[in-house]
Formats: sequence, C-alpha cells, structure tokens
Amino acid sequence: MKISPSILSADFANLQRDIELVEENGADYIHVDVMDGHFVPNITFGPDAIKAIRPVTKLPLDTHLMIENPESYIDDFAEAGADIIGVHAEATAHIHRALQMIKNKNVQAEVVINPGTSVDSIYHVLSMVDQILVMTVNPGFGGQSFIKETLYKIEQLAKLKVENGYKYDIEVDGGIVPETAKQCKAAGANVFVAGSYIYSAEQPKKQIQLLKEAVE
Ligand code: DX5
Ligand code: ZN
Repeated sequence: MKISPSILSADFANLQRDIELVEENGADYIHVDVMDGHFVPNITFGPDAIKAIRPVTKLPLDTHLMIENPESYIDDFAEAGADIIGVHAEATAHIHRALQMIKNKNVQAEVVINPGTSVDSIYHVLSMVDQILVMTVNPGFGGQSFIKETLYKIEQLAKLKVENGYKYDIEVDGGIVPETAKQCKAAGANVFVAGSYIYSAEQPKKQIQLLKEAVE
C-alpha cells in the first residue's frame, strides 16, 4: 500500500517545505498534477517545475499528465526527472504509442481513466503498463467528492490483473480520505493519492498516518 500526496493542495510558495513535510512523515510518492487549461480547466506545472522539484526529494515523482497532445511532452517530463508518467486514455488517439514512448525513456508507464471512461477502452494496453490510475473525481481540481461508481472499475481491473498475471499497481485519485481509501482498497487499489485531505489539515503528519492505518 502506498500513499502519494498531491502537491496540488500544497503551498506553491513553499513547495520544498511541503514536499519535505510529507517525505519525513511516511509518504511513498510525490503526486504532481500537470494541467494545461485545455484537457482540464486549470493550469499548474510544466517540465521546469518537475526539474526544480527533482533534487528536493528522494521519493519517486508520480506525474499525472492532464494535458492534450501528451506525446509532445513525454520526453520533456521524463528528462525533467519524472519516475512515473500517467497519460489519460481520453487525451490521445494513440494511447498505445504514448505508453511506448514513456517506456522507451525507462520511466514507469501509467494509463489514466476518467470517471466516465470504461475499463474496456484500455483493455488492450493493460499488459504494458506499470500502473493504472482510476480517477475517482473528474480531473481538474482538488477538494472534490469521491464518485463511488468508480469502485466497480477498480474491481474489474483487480480481477483482470489476477486472471492474466499482470503486474500493474492500481492507483486512485480524488476525494480520498480514510473511509473512501478503505473502500478503494477493498475493491483492489493499492496506491492512494490524497491532496486536500493531507495539505489542508493542521497536521499533515497525522493525516498520512490515518490514511495508512485505513489501508493497512
Ligand atoms: C485532480 C487531481 C488530484 C487532486 C486530488 O484533478 O488529479 O490529484 O490533487 O485532490 P483531492 O485529494 O483533494 O481530491
Ligand atoms: Zn492527480
């Protein structure tokens, strides 16, 4: 079980402090939400931000691309220091090619699906991915409520993993608090992104502990 705090809810003027805070308190990954103002209605970080963050932490950078034309930027994010790169199935007509490009850079390849996208649509790339991100909110913003209908897709992916001997991790992102994390774990998820639950709290350390306890 891994916890991946999303720095979308961190203090951008104190990113180093906020990354160190979660690293010192049991985070497994740092989740970086890249938004382009087109694929989602919000704008955040680019490759230069990843490059600046890279030396600040030893944790893997779990990079979630919410951008159009992801193929045009994969090399830049890989070279900037991303350890996992996630591409939305909805963002490209060529998801297989995008995942191949990530693997060619020796970076872990992740496919991401929105709440309205079916598992069937990524069936043919399941054998090639290191991680699948099941969005449990519509992407774009932190602090939204968990969409419980997504649990069924986690169950489907967990079943396909066992049946076919696949190795992928199943990550969930959006509205994750101890209660929803527990539900996702029961469905088969093993990587949990949390932004506002961790960073909006007075004591992020305690929130990470509570999340860990919920999924152990
Ligand atoms: C949403 C992002 C999430 C976001 C989650 O588009 O992908 O990573 O930070 O925020 P919370 O945990 O507050 O729902
Ligand atoms: Zn995310």
